[in-house]
Amino acid sequence: MKYESQRVAWWFFATSMLLLTLQLVYGFIMGFAHMGLDGLHDVIPFHVARATHTNLLVVWLLCGFMGSAYYIVPEEVGRELFSVKLAWLQLISLVVVGVVAIVGFHFQWWEGRKFLEIPRPLDWLVVVNVLLFLFNIAKTMWKSPRITTTSCVLFFGLLMAALLYLPGMIPTDHQTLDSYWRWWVVHLWVEGVWELIMGGILAYLLIKLTGVDRELIEKWLYVIVGLTFLSGILGTGHHYYYIGTPRYWLLIGGLFGALEPLAFLGMAIYAIAMAKKGGRAHPNRNALAWTIGCSIMSFVGAGFLGFAHTLPQVNMYTHGTLVTAMHGHMAFWGAYAMLVLAIISYALPQLTGRKLHDTPLATFAFWASNIGMVAMTLAFAVAGVTQVVLERRVGMDFLTVQKELEVHFFGLILAATLFAAGIVAYLVQFVRYGMPKGDVIGDVDETSEVPAVSTAAEALS
Ligand code: HEM
Ligand code: HEM
Ligand SMILES: [Fe+2]
Repeated sequence: MKYESQRVAWWFFATSMLLLTLQLVYGFIMGFAHMGLDGLHDVIPFHVARATHTNLLVVWLLCGFMGSAYYIVPEEVGRELFSVKLAWLQLISLVVVGVVAIVGFHFQWWEGRKFLEIPRPLDWLVVVNVLLFLFNIAKTMWKSPRITTTSCVLFFGLLMAALLYLPGMIPTDHQTLDSYWRWWVVHLWVEGVWELIMGGILAYLLIKLTGVDRELIEKWLYVIVGLTFLSGILGTGHHYYYIGTPRYWLLIGGLFGALEPLAFLGMAIYAIAMAKKGGRAHPNRNALAWTIGCSIMSFVGAGFLGFAHTLPQVNMYTHGTLVTAMHGHMAFWGAYAMLVLAIISYALPQLTGRKLHDTPLATFAFWASNIGMVAMTLAFAVAGVTQVVLERRVGMDFLTVQKELEVHFFGLILAATLFAAGIVAYLVQFVRYGMPKGDVIGDVDETSEVPAVSTAAEALS
């Protein structure tokens, strides 16, 4: 760690971890409700648990991205953060908005639109908050000694994510139009601009962890950005099949949706190739595992399982079933949750000056959470395919089918328990690292095995 102001990132990471914990609690509430054990129904009905679970997910990821930017950008551009106070103000206001939104859901104060449930007045506060964040990052980059491709891609991703929040706020009482704009936010976030954030953070981690030349890593970053835009923008069409939009979306969505896995495949090949090429035996193997794991699991969850239901002929049957939940879990986990956990695993030793990354607990956290998530995905897949066959092919009633599916959720709960054990281990690690303190001492992980070419290139860039 080179700059004192990077420490503010720790508070974003800590908040992010708290929200993740709460997200899992609501996941379990829904898992049990699906099993027929819905004792909390009067206090937390299913729709409230669902909105809380998914919104907490989005907020802890955004908090993690913001922390990542506050950590990465000063180092990339070579100066202290513009304002640490502003970062604090922004974190506190984000938490206040988040808490009000979550409490509001429990009192039926919500918009009822999947993923965009936050009521309109709070949406505006989110916009102001994100603008404050972007202002802080932009001012840091402005007139800095250098600008790197990595920091630009990261900034552009964050800026576009903020702008793309706005279409979700366009007022309409037309259901098709409402759906149309909702997907600009949901799809263009996760299959568009968030991929740029992912590309930027992955590039930073690969530069730090593998020792491969910055120029080479950043050249690949352009390819990833190109593939993302080529497929992701028109790929939005895979949500416009049967919602009242014109028929040409069947062709556009089918074609470009099918191309989308390429960007994730590119990311996986890129990360693996750089790790193999890198001569550096960086001591933080755990952060490298999360980084490479992120690129692979995102390909499986987003690319492979996304492709599984992207064609109109398939989506006609699977739309809105547990097949979607299967894909949603693995995709969000692989691409974005693992990304945040990767940067935290890398940053904690730097922020706190303690080297705990090689402990058995850190290894357990990685494997238990990943094996648990694969098992959860399988449980959702079995339940989802059964649901599609019984409900959409056989024609049984929705609620009768849900009753048939209860048994599969026992499997989900078992898998989720293993997953949660991994996350608890990760959180224990986080707490053991302690608070960020001590002097700024440079990279605690640097080793003498850094190839000369890489240090020279980094110094020049
Ligand atoms: C990291 C990237 C991705 C994430 C986080 C993600 C997550 C999700 C989530 C949460 C949903 C449900 C959204 C809703 O109903 O509001 C969804 C739907 C969908 N995703 Fe993805 N996805 C990703 C990438 C992909 C890719 C690359 C493809 C195609 C190859 C894809 C294909 C689809 C399709 C077709 C649906 C609609 C399912 C339905 O009709 O119910 N996704 N995705
Ligand atoms: C303890 C672990 C977890 C459990 C038991 C759990 C369970 C569930 C359940 C039962 C649903 C509702 C499915 C339905 O609509 O019927 C759900 C939705 C969802 N969960 Fe989780 N979850 C867990 C962790 C996670 C994690 C870690 C993520 C992201 C990384 C995640 C992302 C999502 C998403 C995106 C949806 C909405 C899916 C859709 O659009 O269909 N969950 N979860
Ligand atoms: Fe999509």
